[in-house]
Amino acid sequence: AEDGYQLWQRYNQVTNKGQLKQYQQLLEEVVVQGNSPTLQIVKDELQTGLGGLLGKTTAVKESGGKKNVLLAGTRNGSALVKALGLEEDLKAVGPEGYLLLSQKANGKNYTVIAANSDLGVLYGTFHFLRLLQTQQDIQRLAVKSSPKTKLRILNHWDNLDRTVERGYAGFSLWDWHKLPDYIDQRYLDYARANASIGINGTVLTNVNANSLVLTPEYLKKVTALANAFRPYGLKVYLTARFSSPIEIGKLKTADPLDPAVKAWWQKKVEEIYQYIPDFGGFLVKANSEGQPGPQNYGRTHADGANMLADALSPKGGIVMWRAFVYDNNVPDDRAKQAYSEFKPLDGTFRKNVMVQVKNGAIDFQPREPFHPLFGAMPKTPLVMEFQITQEYLGQGTHLAYLAPMFKETLESDTYAQGKGSTVAKVVDGSLNGHSLSAMAGVANIGTDRNWTSHPFGQANWYTFGRLAWDHSLSSEQIADEWIRMTFSNEPKLISEVKNMMMGSREAVVNYMTPLGLHHIMGWSHHYGPGPWIKDKPRADWTSVYFHRADEKGLGFNRTKTGSNALAQYAPEVQAQWQDPATCPEKYLLWFHHVAWDQKLASGRTLWDELCYKYTAGIDSVKAMQQTWAGLASQVDPERHKQVSTFLKIQHDDAKWWRDACLLYFQTFSKKPIPAGLEKPE
Ligand code: GCU
Repeated sequence: AEDGYQLWQRYNQVTNKGQLKQYQQLLEEVVVQGNSPTLQIVKDELQTGLGGLLGKTTAVKESGGKKNVLLAGTRNGSALVKALGLEEDLKAVGPEGYLLLSQKANGKNYTVIAANSDLGVLYGTFHFLRLLQTQQDIQRLAVKSSPKTKLRILNHWDNLDRTVERGYAGFSLWDWHKLPDYIDQRYLDYARANASIGINGTVLTNVNANSLVLTPEYLKKVTALANAFRPYGLKVYLTARFSSPIEIGKLKTADPLDPAVKAWWQKKVEEIYQYIPDFGGFLVKANSEGQPGPQNYGRTHADGANMLADALSPKGGIVMWRAFVYDNNVPDDRAKQAYSEFKPLDGTFRKNVMVQVKNGAIDFQPREPFHPLFGAMPKTPLVMEFQITQEYLGQGTHLAYLAPMFKETLESDTYAQGKGSTVAKVVDGSLNGHSLSAMAGVANIGTDRNWTSHPFGQANWYTFGRLAWDHSLSSEQIADEWIRMTFSNEPKLISEVKNMMMGSREAVVNYMTPLGLHHIMGWSHHYGPGPWIKDKPRADWTSVYFHRADEKGLGFNRTKTGSNALAQYAPEVQAQWQDPATCPEKYLLWFHHVAWDQKLASGRTLWDELCYKYTAGIDSVKAMQQTWAGLASQVDPERHKQVSTFLKIQHDDAKWWRDACLLYFQTFSKKPIPAGLEKPE
């Protein structure tokens, strides 16, 4: 049965006869020299991959005699690779990069996967297999690839009891009870899938952290995972609960300036590195949503981060300190708080501290303008934090392809150093010359047979890895690759599924939060609509705080006459967004309180446009259902049925959102649903 477990690594036989013939000719023989654990994985992967794709057993050899050879290795580890020269080209691709080349030498035709490290060879191997999986021409290969972002990290919000915060695909993969002795095959399959898309780090534990993971009992288990992941180039990181010195260290305080506290963390870090010599470092959520932090002791975020950084720096570890902070006691707009707290700290962090910033200033909404901290902290390397798990985008049952959303943020222009200062350039370090750079994705992976609940959730995991490696890839290209590898290379299927995917995130925006609306979802679970949510312990956890509907209009005035959050952006950005007439409509209600009767670009009033957007969202889902139904003969029955069922749920939910939101907002607008549109029930 087809259960989706294989992700995009199916290696079904190539269906294009011409292409298959080319591959069989050029890959007469496979030679890999060297024997490290990583190269062993390379060999296994080539054997399995080519075995499936070419439909015949492929032996991997140490040396060869045939004329057409696939050769993989490093200059240091393989005499054959060294004999090809390649010195300059290899220098240019760095420690993790690789070359895929077609090259003639000694009367032979080589197809070469060459890199500077065994891990680079592994990454190159996956790229090469992808070319075959997607049935590309490999006759004249001239690929040079290296990652644009140095650290490409999954963040698991996994608790030690195996529940997953905001996880919708079963339980945590980490079976703490059976660790360290039992290494589940799934850990290796997880690492392999990550390596195939260039992910090189994983934070195992929830940002709402439990200090127990730092005790020897758990560190032994973490070590077992780190050992399993190492050959795949996957480094392990942990979340550090700031109050750990009290909870597991028996100290009376966790004050970062207290010598006993500093000494405790230093010792703890030394202990960790005894277990895991290549431990990556800590991810920290402090003084946010009730988590302890340096401010409990009157210290700053920099005091806290630097104290941990000093403990980690002799070992080469880093601190990723999250900027997702807000406090109900601060009377200011929640959207402003991270910037207000962190911007003044720019330049005060140690070299091995990165500040991790969510893509937008509120919280992973279906659409947010880019976070104003991007471009505002030139002296500090910033980690982009994307959320792959669809907390606010229909969770485990809605089809929402997130590449267009990630790209929208990455391509936004901060104007920090003039035009062209995109968020992507801030994140990859090129704008301000940082050698440390990182992208983090909050994982959507769990124990579900297909890993991600929705079969299309796999595409978002895939997308995160691909964009972290190369943020210039287009959403279409990533979808194209993923569809070919996950379903088939059949042109009709590719184009129709791609269409579904490309429109899916906008559909979600339309039926949940069109025109810049945000944070109007159901209380606490965040799944369905809840624009009426008010009277909660914190104003900034309600919906009315964000949409500000009244008899005059709708939206949050964040201009000078309102919260002035807009002032946190560069003047060029402000100039575009401050006037409702020039503000892109997708951000309109994010920045402006707009009258119900105000005419928008379509010529319709705000109220009518809102009604149209909600309707358009439902219509898009209907269209996806129709397309998918037409693909029944081209997709295996099991996955086809699951997606159909989920699309039905998504359609029902889209209507639920429209009904709830329009009926609620209508109590303020007092206007009828425009003629021709289906009435909410
Ligand atoms: C969201 C999410 C929380 C999470 C928090 C965070 O608010 O709902 O579950 O802990 O983000 O990113 O820290």
